[in-house]
Formats: sequence, structure tokens, C-alpha cells
Amino acid sequence: MRSGKHKDTVLITGANGLLGQKLCLSFSSSYKVVATDLHTQNLTSFSNSVYECLDLTDRRALVFHVRFYNPRVIINAAAYTDVDGCEIHRSKAWATNVGGVKNLVEVCQKHQIKLVHLSTDYIFDGEKGPYSEEDPPHPINFYGQTKLEGENVIKEGGIDFLIVRTNVLYGVGKKVKKNFLLWLLEKLSAGEKVKIVSDQFNNPTLADNLSACMLEMAQKGISGIFHIGGTDYLSRYDFALKVADKFEFDKSNILPTKTEFLNQKAKRPHRGGLSTRKAQRILRTKLLSVEEGLEQAKKSKEETKV
Ligand SMILES: NC(=O)c1ccc[n+]([C@@H]2O[C@H](COP(=O)([O-])OP(=O)(O)OC[C@H]3O[C@@H](n4cnc5c(N)ncnc54)[C@H](OP(=O)(O)O)[C@@H]3O)[C@@H](O)[C@H]2O)c1
Repeated sequence: MRSGKHKDTVLITGANGLLGQKLCLSFSSSYKVVATDLHTQNLTSFSNSVYECLDLTDRRALVFHVRFYNPRVIINAAAYTDVDGCEIHRSKAWATNVGGVKNLVEVCQKHQIKLVHLSTDYIFDGEKGPYSEEDPPHPINFYGQTKLEGENVIKEGGIDFLIVRTNVLYGVGKKVKKNFLLWLLEKLSAGEKVKIVSDQFNNPTLADNLSACMLEMAQKGISGIFHIGGTDYLSRYDFALKVADKFEFDKSNILPTKTEFLNQKAKRPHRGGLSTRKAQRILRTKLLSVEEGLEQAKKSKEETKV
């Protein structure tokens, strides 16, 4: 970051999404934030930030906003993230997760802007996770294919970039789509029984923790590919039990099942997740355990009454 009284500008896409909201909050402490998303409604409003409605697939609109705000960094938290939806709406998935990224790379090339991009453990096949940054990608669903192609477009674009791969994001935000935590809490509070897979393993990541790491990485000017996730590697079923424990719900309403019985459109990696050793070597920000992450999420839920 430059010194002096003028703060650098960061343009954040997908600002209304779970991670986007957290990024706007963390980055507005040190940067001027231009928050952008598909919709006219701005879900995050902080001092030091402005909001613009921007569809990443609209190249001309992107160029217009970049010329107008002159950001030093663009953080791409926008994506078509519905994993089963990506199997059905393939052209929308490709247009957003690949076409949108191509537009960003072009504009970053032209104006010497750094691109910080979010990717996923779904670029791996889930045969032998948790994965390191050196493991070869091999996606088994269309969402994973689009996210891998998005990474490739960036790597081949000749720009300064940081790709942060993460997995199973959870947290509390304003009007966000139901992430696993919010979905489960809704079911458990209604006293419903839920079947949760015991054969999918990841290291769930509190969105607030990821955004804090990304702020530190931006301030340190870190480039390359990094994996960021929570410190506990566990099955989705075990994660659900920990959620019930923390939020004091009846655990007997959580029943284990297997992926094959869910009949989901998209194939799911079984042993997914990300090894975070590389990130932990360089970050001062501590990656959180499930216990710590859920405690923080519980506090946010109580404060925001979401
Ligand atoms: N969630 C996870 O578990 C997870 C795991 C690994 C990696 N990631 C990655 O992390 C990033 C953030 O994820 P998230 O969970 O915060 O996603 P999210 O809540 O779905 O937010 C994404 C935001 O981007 C918006 N968007 C979609 N298409 C757009 C377009 N063409 N132009 C501009 N904005 C657009 C979405 O609007 P709509 O809601 O209207 O579509 C939404 O507000 C994504 O890159 C995702 O692939 C997420």
C-alpha cells in the first residue's frame, strides 16, 4: 500500500455475497472500497466505500468503472457458485466464472492492476485431499472445470495476481444465500431431521477469517497461489454435529448419510479440502479451528440477529 493521505482504491466484485461482504468490511479499514455486484441493492455500506451495480460479463461496464475509479487492486469474489446449478446452466456458469475472469484479466493488463481471485478445492477430484498448491488439478464437476479455467486464464494473462483457493465457506451476512451453517441452523431450529454426508471431508472456513487473511496478504503485496481454510479436517457430518453443539441444538436430529444417496446433479469430491501450510508460513493472521470459527459466527449471529 502507498503511504500518504490518499488511500489506494480496491474494487471488489461479488460484494453482496458472503465473502464479498466480509472483504468490504475488512478492506474498508485501510482502502477506499468500490463494492460491486449484479444487483442494484447494496447490502454493505461502510464509510470509505461506494457501491456500483456491475455485471462482470459486461465488458464495457467493467472498463467504464475501472477507468472511473482507477483501482490499484481488483478482488474477484463474484462467481456463479451454485454447484448443481452449474451442471444445468453451463453457459451461464462459463460466462461468469471464465468469461467474467477474462474481462478482468484484460482490464488488469491494460491498466497494470493487480488481480486477486477466489478459487476452490473443487478444482481437485477429492481422491486424496487435503491438497497442497502443488497438487495437479482434476475437477470432477462443471463448477470445478469453470473455476480451473478461470485460474488458467489468470495465470496466462501476464498480470500480477493472487489466487486464493478456499473451501466450505461459512458465516453470517446480510441477506446472503444459505451457506451450510445458515441452512443447518434453519433446519435444526425448526426441529427438522437432516441427513448429512459422512463421506465428504473438508476444512471449513469462516468467511471472516478468510477476509482477514486476504487483507494481510494485500497489505504485504503477496502474489501467487495460496490455499486458505480452517485448521480442522473433518466430514460434513462431524461439522454438522459441532454446529449443533455450539448452537445448542438436538444432535439426534442429524443423521449420517452417503453422497451416493443424495442424487445431486454435480459429482462431489470425497476427500477434498486444502492444506494451508504455505499460507500459515507467511501469515500473522491465525487460521481458525471449527470451534473458534463457530464461536465467532455465533457472536455475529447474536449481534446481527440474522
Ligand atoms: N461458498 C463456498 O463454499 C466456496 C468454496 C470455495 C471457493 N469459493 C469461492 O469464493 C468466492 C466467493 O464465494 P461466496 O460463497 O461468497 O459466493 P456467493 O455468496 O455466491 O457470492 C457471489 C456473488 O457474486 C455475484 N455474481 C454472480 N454472477 C455475477 C456477475 N456476472 N457479475 C457480478 N457479480 C456476480 C452473486 O450474485 P447472485 O447471488 O445474484 O448470483 C453473489 O452476490 C467465489 O469465487 C467462490 O467460487 C466459495
